[in-house]
Amino acid sequence: MRRKVVAGNWKMNTTVSEGEKLAERLVDADVSAVDVIVAPPFTHLDRVGSVLEKTDIALAAQTLSVDTFGAHTGEVAGEMLADLGCSYVIVGHSESRGRGENDEIVAQKIERAFETGLTPIICIGEDEEVYNSGERLDFLKGQVRSALGAVDSSKAFMFAYEPIWAIGTGKTASADDAQSVIGEIRGELPKEVADDIRILYGGSVKAENVEGFLSKDDVDGVLVGGASLKADSFKAIIDGASHV
Ligand code: 13P
Repeated sequence: MRRKVVAGNWKMNTTVSEGEKLAERLVDADVSAVDVIVAPPFTHLDRVGSVLEKTDIALAAQTLSVDTFGAHTGEVAGEMLADLGCSYVIVGHSESRGRGENDEIVAQKIERAFETGLTPIICIGEDEEVYNSGERLDFLKGQVRSALGAVDSSKAFMFAYEPIWAIGTGKTASADDAQSVIGEIRGELPKEVADDIRILYGGSVKAENVEGFLSKDDVDGVLVGGASLKADSFKAIIDGASHV
């Protein structure tokens, strides 16, 4: 049985003190039935991590450097994130890919995540043009295969399918469509781990639609952007996910 996941990606939102307050309002969330992860900006990790230390909510970073310690101005190494208490790191988010993070860099980041003891949440997703082209599955399988080349399948990792046209738009894939795409992605995974790896859906997830996605056999969790920025809406998603 794959345990359901609710992950909140705060992206580049909130000041540190606002983020700390948001985390404080998550402390009493009932996370007994699902794995809950939050990914605040780098600047917030220390203080948000301290607030969440007493809970079972795990901390994630939104990306990491391809490098280890050294002369890499502006970068943040996986070692630093692990030291701050991160257990997870998002890699390949479409917003990072949009700024030049190609499949090769995503693969390097996955390797760095494993080397530094972080579990990568590997994002894939097509834009509207690919969606309409009829080549969506080939495109997504290409992203999956490239990432798998860097994966250590003896360790935990997750995929998140986030269609770009559904991110922050209020449009979502239908639950059936998410199931069908995620089922195809699962088919690409190495046989020995395919039944264990959790694959999430992301893109305009909210309390009203979370149960629909999570009621599908292959959809193991959700990666939430906007609705993770308010404690009430994130808790309502956790609650919905706990009742599927
Ligand atoms: P929204 O939930 O705001 O559409 O964002 C999804 C996302 O990109 C999570 O990583």
